Amino acid sequence: MEKLVINGRTPLKGEVTISGAKNAAVAILPAALLVDGICTIDNLPNISDVKIYLDILTDLGAKVTWNNEHEITLDTRNINSYNSPVEKTSKFRASYYLIGSLLGRFGHAQVGMPGGCKLGARPIDQHIKGFEALGAKVDVSQGKITATAEDLVGTSVYLDVVSVGATINVMLAAVLAEGTTVIDNVAKEPHVVDVANFLNTMGADIRGAGTDVIKVNGVKKLEGNATYSIVPDQIEAGTFMLAAVASRGNILIKNCITKHLEPIMAKVVEMGGEIDEIDGDNVRVWCNKRPKKINIKTLPYPGFPTDLQPQMGVVLSIAEGTSIINESIWESRFQYTEELNKMGAKISAQGKTAVIDGVPDLYGAPVYASDLRAGAALIIAGVCANGVTEVYNLEHIDRGYENIEQKFRNLGANIERVEE
Ligand code: EPZ
Repeated sequence: MEKLVINGRTPLKGEVTISGAKNAAVAILPAALLVDGICTIDNLPNISDVKIYLDILTDLGAKVTWNNEHEITLDTRNINSYNSPVEKTSKFRASYYLIGSLLGRFGHAQVGMPGGCKLGARPIDQHIKGFEALGAKVDVSQGKITATAEDLVGTSVYLDVVSVGATINVMLAAVLAEGTTVIDNVAKEPHVVDVANFLNTMGADIRGAGTDVIKVNGVKKLEGNATYSIVPDQIEAGTFMLAAVASRGNILIKNCITKHLEPIMAKVVEMGGEIDEIDGDNVRVWCNKRPKKINIKTLPYPGFPTDLQPQMGVVLSIAEGTSIINESIWESRFQYTEELNKMGAKISAQGKTAVIDGVPDLYGAPVYASDLRAGAALIIAGVCANGVTEVYNLEHIDRGYENIEQKFRNLGANIERVEE
């Protein structure tokens, strides 16, 4: 079993280059199934969720050619199966996007139930609502989701909750539908916009992504024959911004989109951290004193992202004073606090609220990542703590961060991946 061994008390200094966004990549790869042709996708993050997806696409009949470490050419002219087994789909959440794209192109999809981070209930009722509104029949039984449709016809869909997954999935199913689909109360996350931009580059006609209403004018076919570069990862950039504050370091974050980071920059400044927005793609974050307590409520974009809540929990665990985190998206996203309390933090979490009494120091301990972002948070805690921290369950972290220990090591962290 692999673990990360971290010798702490290191102010992180230097620069880090942000990779392509995980939550865009795992939506754009299945979206490419809507293309009846060839496309090139660049700035793909080198993470296990991408590897699994390319595996699944190959099973379905797609031809994948790697042009370099971060760029592929995808040929989806000869897709010959609409069925993806649960062994593969259960490894991550975004496998549910296969339904929207296979249904959209072939009128038929059978996909094993999606897996992913254990954050409490993760229903897909809004996805199904959208597919059925477009005219599909959806059956969820025996661990599979089967969706079929003679014809998909454009219509209006109002999403009852702001859902990233449902917004993207209904958009996928509507791209080749007859007529216009209007999806209301949609998610506005950068990765939602990135999927729409990818599809438009391939020949779709999608308008309004990034606003509350998305309009999809159905087209006959996506020709492809184009190249698309995936957006930099807002959450990876935010992870290093919070690592700079927690470690009282100074980090230049390169190849990010600073507009997407505004909700995080605001909180960094509130805590006493400092920001120098160099230009639209690079930002410097530093902090040379103990952060101040603040309160956080996670919200859909452009609110404070839930996928940075655990990393923020680490910063607040060593802040001056008592902070409160309100997790409004997920029922149970505080598992990491038990691990931090093993390191000397004083956090009491109940349901969707955590009260954090800041302590001056954390101390190294063996800790276990319960999911992807909890894992990133424990690495930050290890870098700040006195002594040695061992982080286990790295498979969670590798799902969404490319070369994470190398990036921390380049910033001066004493971190090593070892086989136990
Ligand atoms: C996406 O998950 C992300 N995953 C998650 O990131 C992220 O936490 C989440 O959006 C919120 O930003 C991917 O993009 C692959 P939702 P998703 O549908 O699509 C409720 C990470 O760490 N809901 O926006 O599953 C749901 O219960 C991961 O990278 C319904 O009720 O999230 C939740 O409370 C973890 N019915 C809320 O909406 C539905 O049909 C938001 O969920 C769908 C969702």
